[in-house]
Amino acid sequence: MVPTANASKPIPKRKGLPWVGSTFDFARDPLAFLTGLQQRYDRLVQFDAVGRLITLTLTPEDAKHILQENNRNYVKSDAYEVLKMFLGNGLLNSEGDFWRRQRRLAQPAFHKQRLALLVEGMNRETGELMARWKNRTLEKPLLISEEMMQLALAIVTHSLFSSDVKNHLDNVSESITIIIETAYKELFNFFPITRKWPTPRAIRYRRAVAKIEGIIYEIIHRRQTAALPAQSHDDLLGMLMEAQDDETGERMTNQQLRDEITTIFMAGHETTANALSWALYLLAKHPEVAAKVRDEINRVLGATRFPTVETLRELPYTTQVIQETMRLYPPAWIFGRQPLQSDQFGAYRLTVPGANGVLICPYLLHRDPRYWEKPDTFDPDHFRPEAVKLRPTYAYLPFGGGPRLCIGNHFAMMEMQIVLSLLVREFDFQPVDTREIRPEPGITLRPKGGLRLRVLPRRTTG
Ligand code: HEM
Repeated sequence: MVPTANASKPIPKRKGLPWVGSTFDFARDPLAFLTGLQQRYDRLVQFDAVGRLITLTLTPEDAKHILQENNRNYVKSDAYEVLKMFLGNGLLNSEGDFWRRQRRLAQPAFHKQRLALLVEGMNRETGELMARWKNRTLEKPLLISEEMMQLALAIVTHSLFSSDVKNHLDNVSESITIIIETAYKELFNFFPITRKWPTPRAIRYRRAVAKIEGIIYEIIHRRQTAALPAQSHDDLLGMLMEAQDDETGERMTNQQLRDEITTIFMAGHETTANALSWALYLLAKHPEVAAKVRDEINRVLGATRFPTVETLRELPYTTQVIQETMRLYPPAWIFGRQPLQSDQFGAYRLTVPGANGVLICPYLLHRDPRYWEKPDTFDPDHFRPEAVKLRPTYAYLPFGGGPRLCIGNHFAMMEMQIVLSLLVREFDFQPVDTREIRPEPGITLRPKGGLRLRVLPRRTTG
């Protein structure tokens, strides 16, 4: 956007405490803090936190401007720093020409056609979970949040390595859990220097990273030295190993493969697991919606068939339920950017140096009454095609937008459709009590205290 002569309105600023600004208000209850700002300001607001001047954007137009129209003026914020030791220079946090090349190389592996090869694995992992659930004591509620986490981890692990990782599954699962928990604890650690100290937590974390790394390198090595070429593995690792730069003919180095694989592990399982947990929670609370989902599934898949890429396209209502779930509980509830140069937002000037963090918050945009008929109500009709057409595109951005749009969005949608349709066909989900589960904002938006539901096998499938 080009500045005009009278374009000099300062962005309004929330006054905080001397020196610490709004740091503690933000850290104490980020959702309440940000929602409070949304209620008082209509487009942009700044506040001081952790020694920085942060700018919160509140409209789809400005989200689009940052993520798409003027995306070259914004780089990823250092919020990803916590995960950097594990993720290295993977797609999530690399920048510039390196990111562009890696994205070009990785993109084909995530095309819908290639993803079709992963449907079978997703069906199988979900099938194994269902078999386990059917053999348990019915009275005891299940810790669904943990069940979904393990399922999503099994699916992403299988999608990456096919059966090559079979012997390592427990190690992968244990290590990833340690890595995620450490990242959560470090998220609000305002003294990053302490991360370098040899605390028991840091030592456990480093060991977990080393363990995963060892497994990844071992599998890569085995494939590189095997008689069969990597391509013969219909999994993400096989596709990434085969990917070749059009211009230079180069392939990814082992280090790059390692970074992309850890990134896919991280970006690709907790997000999906949380969305699935929230979906089951909402369906348990809204049996009339669950009944409509079940009708659709029974109509398309009958009582026993597993979904295929073709039949997934015939589940529009189930898809709307997933979209509506991610509206209310977007797993990536907030993300940040660093402006490189000053920028103009209508009459407001974002001044650099000065402003050093810009926030885009799907959680706020997804509940803004300016764009949603019933912002706080779970209603899959918000995603009827007629309703979608009336909204600005960036009013709904669970997968981000612009060139850094989530590369795994089709993977995630496919996985959620498969898991949800199979589980809802086979089981009834009921709340354990009437208490509302609150979202807990961390790296992703988790159900606070975990989500427990009663899970009852359905005797009939109609
Ligand atoms: C419901 C599930 C998911 C949600 C809500 C989600 C959300 C997002 C969002 C919002 C971004 C952009 C972040 C930013 O712009 O700062 C992103 C990026 C990314 N996601 Fe996802 N994601 C999901 C599932 C997945 C899956 C299943 C995979 C891989 C299998 C994946 C891999 C990635 C990667 C590699 C990036 C970085 C892309 C780049 O910058 O080029 N995500 N995701």
